[in-house]
Amino acid sequence: MKIKFPEYFLFGTATAAHQIEGNNKWNDWWYYEQIGKLPYKSGKACNHWELYKEDINLMAELGYNAYRFSIEWSRLFPEEGNFNEEAFNRYREIIDLLLEKGITPNVTLHHFTSPLWFMKKGGFAREENLKYWEQYVDKAADLLKGVKIVATFNEPMVYVMMGYLTAYWPPFVKSPFKAFRVASNLLKAHALAYDTLRGKFDVGIVKNIPIMLPASESERDKKAAQKADYLFNWSFLDAIWSGRYKGAFKSYKVPESDADFIGINYYTASEVKHSWNPLKFFFDAKLADLSERKTQMGWSVYPEGIYKAIKAVSRYGKPMYITENGIATLDDEWRVEFIIQHLQYVYKAIEDGYDVNGYFYWSLMDNYEWREGFEPRFGLIEIDYETFERKPRKSAYVYGEIAQKKGIKE
Ligand code: NOJ
Repeated sequence: MKIKFPEYFLFGTATAAHQIEGNNKWNDWWYYEQIGKLPYKSGKACNHWELYKEDINLMAELGYNAYRFSIEWSRLFPEEGNFNEEAFNRYREIIDLLLEKGITPNVTLHHFTSPLWFMKKGGFAREENLKYWEQYVDKAADLLKGVKIVATFNEPMVYVMMGYLTAYWPPFVKSPFKAFRVASNLLKAHALAYDTLRGKFDVGIVKNIPIMLPASESERDKKAAQKADYLFNWSFLDAIWSGRYKGAFKSYKVPESDADFIGINYYTASEVKHSWNPLKFFFDAKLADLSERKTQMGWSVYPEGIYKAIKAVSRYGKPMYITENGIATLDDEWRVEFIIQHLQYVYKAIEDGYDVNGYFYWSLMDNYEWREGFEPRFGLIEIDYETFERKPRKSAYVYGEIAQKKGIKE
């Protein structure tokens, strides 16, 4: 065996509540799906809310030793002040079953969706709403007993950008000023959650790290790439420790906090050009064209980027996980190749001394890819959306073998 990962290394898969559970009727996405503001409805999604036992059994059979998923806040609190015990118990069953099967849970508290009632009050754009987030975190502390790895937010800057800058996602607001305020409030929310959960769990945050490449060798483009890199990749993370969040126009005071780990979501790179448009913060970022073949998302495959992301995030001196990495394709052989190429770079990072503790493939199964609906197929397991039959692809077994041997054959 050429590549052998350390014994402690976690080989898992990742999902998110709204993308797999089905019938998440109390959150903002569901609402906008029903009124036609989003092109696709999540509906029953993968029907995981009912089929969770089958899914966990499958994971165990395939040999994965970890699983990242998210708790849907709006299931626990479908209405303001109205706590749903049944949903709490269902999540508890999921956690217990994972633990029983020897699968390490890695739980995210916020993965893009929020309760509709919370959003109607202004969501994270209003600091006074953080009291509702605190109520949720208190319940989560109870719910997650026995879990070790807990992340507060998934991809906070994607949430901000899509929801408040491009207005491509709920709540469809296009306001740079609001966007950076939301980011600063997410930092406050992280700090509050960290205070409540510290010591009981390893509490971290999950950040997407697209590699920002300059579109040309010109000084202007290089500066533009640095700016984009700072604004979307580092300003948020820096603020966790510095207590100062630097948005595009002004800086915000936030509590000095901490994170016990950083989760890295890595998919591809962006190409950044200088722009004269102040409303675009003087740069223009688009998907980089780095491989001839593009995934169903239109993304290039750029495996060395995962090494670059790890190296860059190591600046914080915190343990890291690859909390997401994956490919949307119908060509499963390509998926196998993708996983191996990325794992080779993760391995190299460990060999070079970077503190990477696990890899979570996105995704365990095909699911609702937000605005893109059900067409992109990220899954190791194929979902038939008519019958909800689960069919592991070849990649599911190949990854399972890697997980069990903790290594890659030559
Ligand atoms: C990141 C997000 O966290 C997840 O929800 C999404 O499905 C994947 N990337 C793929 O786009």
